[in-house]
Amino acid sequence: MLKFENITKIFKPEFFNQPFVALSDVSFEIPSGSMVGFLGANGAGKTTSLKIIMDFIRADKGLVTFSSELGEKRNDVFRNIGFLPERPYFYPNLTGREFLTFMGQISELSSDQIKAGIAKWASRFKIDHALERPLRTYSKGMLQRIGFLATILHEPKLIILDEPLSGLDPIGRKELKDVIVEVHREGKTVFFSSHIVPDIEEICDRVVFLKEGKLVYDGPVDKLLRSGQEIDYVIKFKTDKKINLQSTIKSHQTFPGQLHSITVTESNKKLILKELMALDVDLSGIDLIKPSLEEIFYHIKAN
Ligand SMILES: Nc1ncnc2c1ncn2[C@@H]1O[C@H](COP(=O)(O)OP(=O)(O)OP(=O)(O)O)[C@@H](O)[C@H]1O
Ligand SMILES: [Mg+2]
Repeated sequence: MLKFENITKIFKPEFFNQPFVALSDVSFEIPSGSMVGFLGANGAGKTTSLKIIMDFIRADKGLVTFSSELGEKRNDVFRNIGFLPERPYFYPNLTGREFLTFMGQISELSSDQIKAGIAKWASRFKIDHALERPLRTYSKGMLQRIGFLATILHEPKLIILDEPLSGLDPIGRKELKDVIVEVHREGKTVFFSSHIVPDIEEICDRVVFLKEGKLVYDGPVDKLLRSGQEIDYVIKFKTDKKINLQSTIKSHQTFPGQLHSITVTESNKKLILKELMALDVDLSGIDLIKPSLEEIFYHIKAN
């Protein structure tokens, strides 16, 4: 759907200051139909990248290309993209409906199309009850949802959101994530930036990871999770016998009721299970301990 190839962006400030390399030879891909998270700390270059995709600013080197399903001509391509900026402006005195109508008109939708779009999404976004109220009375979560609705009103194929979840409490985040997932299920490609690693882990199938203007990772979330440290397993069982295992285990805890919990590495798991079976223990569960994306995020290094 979108290719971001070898992009370098250098900001050249006033005379005295050094040029600043905001993006250095960054390449990544957004496949059609995917939900991709764009991770990076403050200042990593996420907004700069999104502005380059939207053609608000120009890269010094590199190329952004869009697949033909978005259209052949520049205008068609951008008509098929919905973009929610990092700090959208909400006219305080417009009602929700007026704001959406205004945004729909900018996208050259007919009034019937706008009405149909609002009817389709407002109740699913739980914003229908507030459509006749001015935006100044909206909570932050309501503003984020109406901003998102405005972004998808013209039924774009590619949706790009800059920090849509920022500043929301856990309930607000959950609600907006549900809505993003729903829109993605309709077949739309979604690319959104965030610092909130667990949110990306929860809903994205792919992640693009920037650190200080350099690409650290572009690919499936689970591959990144598996590429971290070795995966451990926790084996739980009951036995009244004394346990003396030959294979190496990482930890062993006992609990009341003759309950045991041992942690083993993936490579030792099979051997230990054989030993436990030979001891005829009452096995009650095996759980995988996955490193979280957050742990990887803090440890991974830029090239
Ligand atoms: N117009 C500009 N002139 C000079 N430097 C800029 C300009 N725009 C961005 N930068 C710098 O480029 C770097 C990347 O900024 P960018 O806004 O892309 O980061 P970000 O990843 O979106 O961060 P955040 O998570 O805080 O939104 C920052 O160091 C920023 O100061
Ligand atoms: Mg930003």
